[in-house]
Amino acid sequence: MELLKQKIREVGVVLSDEVIKLDAILNHAVDPALTTAMGQEFAKLFREEGVTKIVTIESSGIPIAFAAAQELNVPLVFARRKKTLNTDTETYCERVPSFTKGMVTDIMVSKEFLNETDRVVLIDDFIANGDAARGLIRIIRRSGATLLGVGIAVEKSFQAGGRTIRESGVRVESLVKISSLANGQIQFE
Ligand code: G4P
Ligand code: NA
Ligand code: NA
Repeated sequence: MELLKQKIREVGVVLSDEVIKLDAILNHAVDPALTTAMGQEFAKLFREEGVTKIVTIESSGIPIAFAAAQELNVPLVFARRKKTLNTDTETYCERVPSFTKGMVTDIMVSKEFLNETDRVVLIDDFIANGDAARGLIRIIRRSGATLLGVGIAVEKSFQAGGRTIRESGVRVESLVKISSLANGQIQFE
């Protein structure tokens, strides 16, 4: 997605060889026009699949997931993050390690909002090692819903998340792929 690449070149701050700060468009502020355009791209990719629900994880996935849901005219469900493992039987809960933050978090979705009649697209802002996406995929599978695919705004293809999830047989679509952040330079694939 050329517009997203342009914006990333404009506002992206390379923090290390592995991390790019995109606060201005994804993680602290929202550009409504760009976010709407991203939603349209995701909708175009999955429109023929009979999507009934968009699923993401709070917080940074929510605006782009909302834009996709709006475009496809389906509800959005966002997994919540909890500090303590929720053991109640009315929720699906999965523990997710975070490479960037060096800690684990628990994500949960109430059984009320996901079930075997759903045809789901998972949307998220970044994929690095893919731990968050894999956790949410486990929840979707446990609910009995059909996972149609994963839509990611920024795939860091020098990290293994996107590749390993594709290798597990899941369709993964990224709007842009960053192949390297070495030497402070953003390289797109
Ligand atoms: P993974 O899920 O793919 O394994 O990635 P990781 O554990 O490293 O991700 C932890 C958080 O950091 C995620 O946000 C993810 O979106 C974000 N992240 C990963 N790589 C980058 C990067 O290069 N730049 C930025 N800006 N973020 C990155 P989160 O914990 O879900 O937090 P939130 O932003 O949704 O609140
Ligand atoms: Na995220
Ligand atoms: Na994030």
